[in-house]
Amino acid sequence: MASKTPRILIVDDEPNIRFVLGELLSREGYQTDDCGDGLTAVEKISKEHFDMVIMDLRMPRMDGMTALKKAREIRPDIIVLMISAHGTEKTAVEAIENGAYDYISKPFDLNETRIVVRRALEKLRLSETVSDLRRQTISRFAFGNIIGQSAAMREVYHLIERVKDNDVSVLVTGESGTGKELVAAAVHHNSPRGAGPFIKVNTAAIPETLLESELFGHERGAFTGAVSQKIGKFEAANSGTIFLDEIGDMSLPLQAKLLRVLQEREIERVGSTKTVKVDIRVVCATNRDLGKCVENGSFREDLYYRINVLPVFLPPIRKRKEDIPLLIDHFIDQYNSKLGCNIHGVEPEALELLMGYPWPGNVRELENIVQRSMLMTGGETITASVLPPVVRSGGASETSLAPNSGPLEDLDLSSLLNTNNFELPLAERLTKISDHIERFLIRAALARTGGHRQETADLLRISRKSLHNKMVRHELFDE
Ligand SMILES: Nc1ncnc2c1ncn2[C@@H]1O[C@H](COP(=O)(O)OP(=O)(O)OP(=O)(O)O)[C@@H](O)[C@H]1O
Ligand SMILES: [Mg+2]
Repeated sequence: MASKTPRILIVDDEPNIRFVLGELLSREGYQTDDCGDGLTAVEKISKEHFDMVIMDLRMPRMDGMTALKKAREIRPDIIVLMISAHGTEKTAVEAIENGAYDYISKPFDLNETRIVVRRALEKLRLSETVSDLRRQTISRFAFGNIIGQSAAMREVYHLIERVKDNDVSVLVTGESGTGKELVAAAVHHNSPRGAGPFIKVNTAAIPETLLESELFGHERGAFTGAVSQKIGKFEAANSGTIFLDEIGDMSLPLQAKLLRVLQEREIERVGSTKTVKVDIRVVCATNRDLGKCVENGSFREDLYYRINVLPVFLPPIRKRKEDIPLLIDHFIDQYNSKLGCNIHGVEPEALELLMGYPWPGNVRELENIVQRSMLMTGGETITASVLPPVVRSGGASETSLAPNSGPLEDLDLSSLLNTNNFELPLAERLTKISDHIERFLIRAALARTGGHRQETADLLRISRKSLHNKMVRHELFDE
C-alpha cells in the first residue's frame, strides 16, 4: 500500500515560488525537494523516486514542456502539475494533452493548490491499491508463477506437491500453450532437486541424427564431426531434472535407448562402452495422445508406462474459463512492470469477448493478446476496440488466420512464434513476423500522435514518405 510519505519535486526558476510551495506542501505532510530548471529536474527524476512534480513552463536550460515529456518517458506513472503564469494558459492546456495531470495558476490560491495536489495523489494511491489488491488475489490462486483457480488447476498444484519428495517420472500432457513447460519447471523447483540443474530437451526440434549424441553425449572421434568429447543432456542434468519436451515425436530406436536409461539410471556416451551413472528425475511432455500412439505402434508401450508414472493433464483454456480473468490480471500486472504501462483492467464488454473466445493457442495466445492490447490502448483500460478482429468476432474469423488472407493484422503472431509450428520456410516466416511487428509499431505510434503523420514519422525516425508507403502496405489508412 502507498502508506509511505509522497515525495514531490518542485521545479521553478524563481526561488520565492519554490519556497512558498515547499512550505505549503511540507505543512501538508509531504516530502519535498526542489530545483531551478528542467534539465536538473529530469536528472533528479531519473535517479530518485518522486510521486509528483510541480513544474513551471518557462525555465532556463530546459523548458517545462520538454521536461514534462522526458519525465513521463522515464516514469510513465509520475504525476505532473504545471504552473501556469499569466500568458501561458494556452501552453498549460497543451501540457495536459502531453500527459500533465493538471495545472495551477500563478499567483497561487493556496487552498486550491492544496486541494489539487491532494486529489492527484489520492488518485495515485487508489490505482496503487487496485494493483496491490490484484496482486493479492492472484497470489491466492497461484502456485509459484502458475496461475489458475479452476478445479483442474488446483488438482495440478496438488499433484506437483505430491511428487515433491520422490523421483517418480511425470508426464505432462495438454494442448499447445497450456503451460506444460511451466508445470515441468515447477515440479523441478519444488523438489529437493530444485538447487540442481533443470535441463530441457525439445526432442522434436533436434534432427534425428543429432538427438542421440545430444542426449547421451559422445566421445571424440565417435563419428565424423565429433572432434571433441561432448557431455550429453542426461549427464548435464545429473542431480537435477531432465525435461523431455515433445516426447511423442521421438523415434522408436531412441525410445529403446531412453527406456534403458529410465530402467538402469545409467548411460553410455556415443562411441564409448563405459557406463556413467546418472541421478535424475525425468519429466516428459507432449501435446499428442500417447495412448493412441501406443495403439498405432509409434510409441513403445513399455516406455509409455515408465514415463507415465504420474500423469498431469492440463485442460485447454476453453474448458476452464474461470481462469481467464485471473490470467488476464496476471499478465496485465506483469506487462505493466515490463512495459512501464499503467493499465488498470479490462472493460466489461472486452472481458465478455475474451471469455467467449475459444483460445486455440491457449494461455500463450491469451498472454500475447493481453500484451498487445495493452500496447494498443490509449487509455487506462483494455477496451473491446483494441482486441484483434478474431477475438471480437468470437473466433468466427479464425479461418482468416491463414497466411496471405487479408491484412497482416489478422495473422496470429503466436502461431508464427510457435516453436512447434514449422509450416512456413524460415525466411518467409521471419518476413511475416517482422511485417506484423512493423504494422503493430506504426499503428501504436499513430495512436499516440492521434494520427498526425509528421509527428508519427518523427517519433519513428523515418521520413514522411516512408511512413506513407508503409501505411499503404499495411492498409493503415482506414483506421
Ligand atoms: N497457468 C498459467 N499461469 C501463468 N502463465 C501461464 C500458465 N500457463 C501457461 N502460461 C504461460 O503461457 C506460455 C506458454 O506456456 P508453456 O510454454 O508452458 O506451454 P506449453 O504447454 O509447453 O506449450 P507447447 O505445447 O506449445 O510447448 C508461457 O509464457 C507460460 O509462462
Ligand atoms: Mg512447451
